Amino acid sequence: MKRKLLSLATVAALFFISSCGNHEKSENESSEAPQSMVQDAPKDDGQGIGKFKNITLAALDEKLAEQGKVVFEAKCSACHNATDVRKVGPGLKGVTERRQPAWILNQITNPTEMLQKDPTSKELLAVYLTQMTFQDVSDDQAKQILEYFRQNDKGGAEQAKK
Ligand code: HEC
Repeated sequence: MKRKLLSLATVAALFFISSCGNHEKSENESSEAPQSMVQDAPKDDGQGIGKFKNITLAALDEKLAEQGKVVFEAKCSACHNATDVRKVGPGLKGVTERRQPAWILNQITNPTEMLQKDPTSKELLAVYLTQMTFQDVSDDQAKQILEYFRQNDKGGAEQAKK
């Protein structure tokens, strides 16, 4: 019994010594830390995470926007207003002014990964405390919705001028 206690004490002492050693080592290596952090977290380009990247927008397509409005009302309006009034999620008026097109498309088609990894989505989750889930929206439907948001925001800007 005594022996067992003794060896436990030895193990504890060794553990203590070795963890001290590691501590010193990591302090010595700390000058390298910033670089490895940069590698782990590439600079946020504001485009989000998913299949969409570097989207160039053409002139507003009213027909696509009309289709997008229908999809939005069926699949998104339970949680979002098209005004700036908050519902379960943010009011989406002005979303095309605060986010890049690719980011919006990625948030619609890949919300789970966005909420885990994208800095902007993570911030929104911290505010709204509900996770947006994938609504079974095809890529084409996502583009229709983006067109609807563009139309919605354009109208807003024109109305605001009056
Ligand atoms: C279950 C509720 C829910 C549904 C349904 C939903 N969302 Fe969301 N959405 C959220 C929440 C909550 C957020 C804020 C981020 C988070 O916490 O997930 C969000 C964030 C967003 C954002 C980012 C807004 C900003 O200010 O940047 C966009 C764009 C968006 N949603 C579009 C859509 C579209 C389009 C649909 C339909 C295809 C949809 N959402 C369906 C809850 C929902």
